[in-house]
Amino acid sequence: MSSRPETQGKKSFQISGITTTEDVRIPQDPLERVIGQEEAVTLARVAAVQRRNLLLVGPPGIGKSMIARAMSLHLPPPTQELRVVHNPEKPERPTVEIKSGEDVETEKTTKEYAGGEIIDPVEAPITVAERLGYRCRSCGTYSSPKEVYCPKCQKSKILNAFSGQTNPFGDIFGNLFEMTMGQGLGSDRVTTTRKRFDKEEVVVYERYGENIRVLDQKALEKKRSMEKQSPHKVIVSHRRNNFIMVAGSSETELLGDVRHDPYGGHAQLGTQPYERVIPGAIHEAHEGVLYIDELPHLGELQRYILTAMQDKVFPIEGHNAQSAGAAVRVDNVPCDFILVASCNIQDLQQIVSPLRSRIMGSGYEVLLETTMKDTEENRAQIAQFVAQEIHKDGKIPHATAEALMELIREAARRAKLIDGKDDALTLRLRELGGVIRGAGDIAAMEGSKYIEEGHLKLALKRAKPVEEQIREKYGYFYKAVSDEMTAAQKHGTNEYWYENEVSQQNNKPGYG
Ligand SMILES: Nc1ncnc2c1ncn2[C@@H]1O[C@H](COP(=O)(O)OP(=O)(O)O)[C@@H](O)[C@H]1O
Ligand SMILES: [Mg+2]
Repeated sequence: MSSRPETQGKKSFQISGITTTEDVRIPQDPLERVIGQEEAVTLARVAAVQRRNLLLVGPPGIGKSMIARAMSLHLPPPTQELRVVHNPEKPERPTVEIKSGEDVETEKTTKEYAGGEIIDPVEAPITVAERLGYRCRSCGTYSSPKEVYCPKCQKSKILNAFSGQTNPFGDIFGNLFEMTMGQGLGSDRVTTTRKRFDKEEVVVYERYGENIRVLDQKALEKKRSMEKQSPHKVIVSHRRNNFIMVAGSSETELLGDVRHDPYGGHAQLGTQPYERVIPGAIHEAHEGVLYIDELPHLGELQRYILTAMQDKVFPIEGHNAQSAGAAVRVDNVPCDFILVASCNIQDLQQIVSPLRSRIMGSGYEVLLETTMKDTEENRAQIAQFVAQEIHKDGKIPHATAEALMELIREAARRAKLIDGKDDALTLRLRELGGVIRGAGDIAAMEGSKYIEEGHLKLALKRAKPVEEQIREKYGYFYKAVSDEMTAAQKHGTNEYWYENEVSQQNNKPGYG
């Protein structure tokens, strides 16, 4: 729905002045979109400029992830590209190369220059088109080299591609051959000669998707000089996101890995170790923000984070001992990130203390708010929040002032109910956002132009957690549990045994 990010000026509008949330301005600065968390937002600004760490503490749904993401948008874009370079002396110890973004761009333009000429397969000599898998030897039809069988005569182009003889490996290996070549048929480059200005020169024809690339002597020389630069794999591009989020506790996701090679590094079939290196989140977050949701859930992995923060480099190794990747290691892979971590109050003790002191030593810890005072200004903040949620959702209409007032009353009810605060508005906004979407869905289904007060009331009813719905229907939760128990389930429980056996015995005369 329409909405308009603000271009200038400060927020602070009168909530009484609006008729629908369409009138509410959404700030351009993503940190200003976070409401009610002044302290955390201020510290996030400092952390972005000074490259400090941040620990955000508080319950779910109050804006921790939102702050971390918004903070990353205040960082300058990354400037470095990280590459893993083939080490001819010791392939299982590839080295790391750091390239500036500028270098990467110049390299790209030179490469394009050396790119040779791109032609239609029909323009290539017939034998070349056949050997590259574009042309069927049987019927002469041209098709993509990815197609194993000629679309016209259905004959296998693979068999034909082996110099007209039968496949030396037999059919099974023919398929394997095709698989390992990745792209499809036969060879992917053909070297031949041609006459030009009475001189014989070497030309190379290469597969280039649906086309063929022709490299003449000059292009070949250029290409050769570029290939002299060691073969490498880009593991972290300089054009990347500044924000990397980790949730869960996968060691390989966090620290990187070396993929298994089913061919065990076989010279022809296998892939070189450097090609199988995969960066971890700590490397991808280089120069940016590494956001760890629920830091204590990392358990022992927290210690690696600490090491990475201290050294600003961390090796990438194969983590599966059974895998051919286990022998491979790349040392000193840069990982100079800003750590932003979230934690709820009850898990605070489970952050390993050296990591905690590292964060404090070079950063800030902040306890987020769960409520804010019920003032005119803060009600306007709720209005801004509603406008943002509607804008973000994109599928629901704006809300009327009356619907907004109903939501504000609900925010006050929740502050009282959950946090025991009078004259306050809740900041547990993820769930409140759910109410807005619920009301929006009702309005959308009705084809209503706006979310009205009635839609909101209905949505609030629907938004009740299922335990509460059960309590309303059955009286109380445990009664429902026992009412709904099947007889078979009952026989298996202590309760049944007690009620039907013990109590009967207890009632027997002469007992007790
Ligand atoms: N303080 C806030 N200001 C604005 N929107 C919020 C705020 N807190 C939560 N939200 C909304 O709820 C969503 C979930 O919040 P999130 O940042 O993931 O919470 P947390 O990380 O604390 O669990 C956000 O994407 C946003 O739409
Ligand atoms: Mg979160």
